[in-house]
Amino acid sequence: MSSLTPAHDRPAVPPGAPLVQPALVQPAAPPVLQGFGLARSYRLGRTTVAALAGIDIEVRRGEFLALRGPSGSGKTTLVNLLGLLDRPDDGRLLLDGQAVADLDDDALTDLRRDRFGFVFQAYSLIPVLTAEENVAWPLVLKGAPPARRRERARDLLARVGLQGKEGTRPDLLSGGERQRVALARALANEPEVILADEPTASLDSAAADGVLDLLRGLQRERRAALVLATHDERAAGRADRTVALHDGRLRADA
Ligand SMILES: Nc1ncnc2c1ncn2[C@@H]1O[C@H](COP(=O)(O)OP(=O)(O)OP(=O)(O)O)[C@@H](O)[C@H]1O
Ligand SMILES: [Mg+2]
Repeated sequence: MSSLTPAHDRPAVPPGAPLVQPALVQPAAPPVLQGFGLARSYRLGRTTVAALAGIDIEVRRGEFLALRGPSGSGKTTLVNLLGLLDRPDDGRLLLDGQAVADLDDDALTDLRRDRFGFVFQAYSLIPVLTAEENVAWPLVLKGAPPARRRERARDLLARVGLQGKEGTRPDLLSGGERQRVALARALANEPEVILADEPTASLDSAAADGVLDLLRGLQRERRAALVLATHDERAAGRADRTVALHDGRLRADA
């Protein structure tokens, strides 16, 4: 058959090829975020601290990537860059292949709202709002109608085991419950990327396990990418892939 034959006219299996094809290698999911030579320093008086010293990193669609490293190694700095909360001093960050540096602050705000979910160590819930209102907040920012906000917030709270706590304000919730509210809120806009910075650091081990199980379950269910910055070996052990930071550099990790 001529190589000029249109692809759709060619037989799917070439003549003589075995009917049973060798096991297909699962192609790696495409990257949603790619960083090349990312660097970020902070000025501290007269000195400059190189929090990230030029690293390459990739976050693939739907994967659970753990970011390990000792205190001060640059995990939060990297999470902030990947979450478009901060800009690198040097290097390039691509979101779906598009250079983030080309976007203005309004565009970054829209992207964070529409495509990212954040869970921080300190919960960062709004104290004067109830659990349900906190979860619905990203939908308020997006202009969703009240009935839809309410339904989605209630659904998500039930999903994280907080049915019956919808009207409770954060100060009356336990640490584990607050973090589950934060988790539900991070999922409100069906993000493609969830960034979690030490989300279990303030919790006892039982509450931490519960939050991690939920986080992983919800991430898989929704096929979101999850980047988890953590000291916790056990948390990192649940990830699909782990990278380790040390003094602002990436180290190949076992
Ligand atoms: N706003 C800031 N101003 C000055 N230095 C900073 C600032 N934020 C971070 N740093 C410094 O940058 C380095 C990396 O900090 P970063 O918070 O990213 O580390 P980390 O790995 O998240 O640490 P931890 O595990 O304690 O949260 C540290 O040396 C830190 O002191
Ligand atoms: Mg940190």
